[in-house]
Amino acid sequence: MTTLTSYLDQHSTNTELNDVITTVTNVGKTISQLLRKGALADILGEAGNQNVQGEEQKKLDVLANDLLLDALAENTHCAGVASEELDNATPANADGSLLVLFDPLDGSSNIDINMAVGTIFSILPYQRQGQTSENSDFLQAGNQQLAAGYLLYGTSTILALTITENVVMFSLDPDTGDYVLIEDNVQIDADTSEYAINSSNYRYWRAPMQQYIDELIAGEAGVRGRDFNTRWVAAMVGDVHRILCRGGLFTYPFDTKYAHKAGKLRLMYEANPMSLLIERAGGGATDAVNRILDIEPTDIHQRVPVVLGSKNEVDYVKNLHVNYSEK
Ligand code: AHG
Ligand code: MN
Ligand code: MN
Repeated sequence: MTTLTSYLDQHSTNTELNDVITTVTNVGKTISQLLRKGALADILGEAGNQNVQGEEQKKLDVLANDLLLDALAENTHCAGVASEELDNATPANADGSLLVLFDPLDGSSNIDINMAVGTIFSILPYQRQGQTSENSDFLQAGNQQLAAGYLLYGTSTILALTITENVVMFSLDPDTGDYVLIEDNVQIDADTSEYAINSSNYRYWRAPMQQYIDELIAGEAGVRGRDFNTRWVAAMVGDVHRILCRGGLFTYPFDTKYAHKAGKLRLMYEANPMSLLIERAGGGATDAVNRILDIEPTDIHQRVPVVLGSKNEVDYVKNLHVNYSEK
């Protein structure tokens, strides 16, 4: 049996990175326990305030955020944290070598209905050791990530992680509190017949995305010549996990629903860590045209369209967009 601790010892000589991953995943155990208690732990419902992005915060959004923040502030290797739920990045320990970014609770709308939610994290190098970290220190492309992963609080609690070229998965043993290795080299098939999108936004999409979904819905009778199936967890962490398990395409595309936002998902807390996992498992991750991991961020809270998953399907969507813009 390989636990997370022994895996990190064997596969990473960066003990500071290992220590920060241990801190994040330990908080994951606490969140997992709170979720299991559910309504009895008084964690459900609205917190009564909005985050910097104007979204209503759930109690568990705030709680998960504070648990991660407090634990990472105590970790001497963590120079600062940036979170979806915080207006600005919070400096931690100036001598630390690492920056941690997270979506403390992904899939907030699932909390109160007992459906899957998760925590997504990304770890970047800190370039100004000895000085207090600022928002601008976090503005590094996703290809700079030293590690990325998520915790999925589903019927069981799963940790997906990449610190080497491999993507690995652990299952949390509720009896021992250990994360136990269950997959040591996750790979996604290049082809798929499963896709995930919130189709109710159809009228807000660009023409090539409308065309793509029209083609999938036409199925066997259309140009694709085969039937496709929709699966939508309503938490990116759940949809990405399904794709790592059995392939598929996930997209939250560009839409005009909110004029000042390019898409719904956040580059630093959602798109970048998930893209690293998906690419290392052999899949593709784009904003419909460009590789997500090469986007140079300009704002810690910036949004980005996301198309990720099985490689050939992601390329198909990309070609539709490139051909359309060349017309
Ligand atoms: P969050 O709960 O962190 O705000 O993110 C939820 C995101 C993402 O996980 C999911 O794919 C998407 O929102 C679903 O949104 P809609 O139900 O509004 O389409
Ligand atoms: Mn999210
Ligand atoms: Mn969130």
